[in-house]
Amino acid sequence: MSSQNIFILGIESSCDDTAASVICNGRVLSNVVASQKIHEEFGGVVPELASRAHQQNIVPVVDQALSQANIKKSDLNAIAFTRGPGLMGSLLVGTSFAKSMAFGLNIPLLDVNHMQGHILAHFIEEDGFKKPPFPFLAMTISGGHTQIVKVSHYFDMEVIGESIDDAVGEAYDKSGKILGLGYPAGPEIDRRAKLGDPKAFPFTKPKVAGLNFSFSGFKTAVLYFIQREVKKNPNFITERLNDICAAIQYTIIGILIDKLKLATTQTGITHIAIGGGVSANSGIREALKNGEQKFGWTTYVPKIEYTTDNAAMIAIVGYLKYLEKDFAEDNVMASARLKI
Ligand code: KG4
Ligand code: ZN
Repeated sequence: MSSQNIFILGIESSCDDTAASVICNGRVLSNVVASQKIHEEFGGVVPELASRAHQQNIVPVVDQALSQANIKKSDLNAIAFTRGPGLMGSLLVGTSFAKSMAFGLNIPLLDVNHMQGHILAHFIEEDGFKKPPFPFLAMTISGGHTQIVKVSHYFDMEVIGESIDDAVGEAYDKSGKILGLGYPAGPEIDRRAKLGDPKAFPFTKPKVAGLNFSFSGFKTAVLYFIQREVKKNPNFITERLNDICAAIQYTIIGILIDKLKLATTQTGITHIAIGGGVSANSGIREALKNGEQKFGWTTYVPKIEYTTDNAAMIAIVGYLKYLEKDFAEDNVMASARLKI
């Protein structure tokens, strides 16, 4: 291959997925994710178990990413890793590994903000996917975050709204727990929502000023509603599960779309990109598409494998930083609460 090719290895270990990816000039050559099944039996991520599993997975996952990309370690130009935000024990595994590997290979290290990764995943070179023009609005919806970000350039981002308590993914997962669904419950609620009646049960939307969100009250409303109905009919959940899921999904999507409408009015920006695990949701994808006709939006929805946590999104941020020679310091540290 010509020397024009820039190979970046991305490493992601912020939560419960150990992931590695190789990209060449912004195009993905491999994207390996080892999801940790261990958390399912606990109904949520157990930080201590997550860091142990990262420790076990990281070498095989990186090895697989290199071999699937059909390159050798020595072909790499730089290594990008998730510095934060996330669970400290999990972040330390990826950070230490990336530092040692870059040091061993004598190549630059690139520190990446996980949330910027979810947004800049839209700049991965991918056939059939268009990139948003600056400025655009990014709504990042995941298990840990719910934010609306004004993106003026790759590294010129401003959070203009965010959740003041739970993230939208938590609203899905905690509602799922109440219903006795497995963890994470988002995909299952999404699947069942398509089979149910979204207007079967009216859940009220929380009232939060401006562009901020709140989901903790929603989860409590679901809990009280279910407790009330189960008292009347012990089989309520099993008999009406699809309708309950449809109503939950309908309400959550309504909350997200209302805030996007306000954000577009306030900023005058109508290009909207979504990212994060919940952007895999079929309801939000459909609602955005409808917004194109209804509100004149242009929307950007990532390929499914770049929605939930992955290392290709870390590698693309690394590549953009590499082009700007914005390398990490040798003493860079993981940061659990890293801000955009
Ligand atoms: O981005 P992500 O993989 O990890 C974090 O950074 O949090 O997001 C995980 C979240 C979980 O809450 C999961 O339930 C949710 O994304 N999720 C979904 C769907 N697929 C994943 N939520 C709703 N519908 C889906 N199809
Ligand atoms: Zn994430």
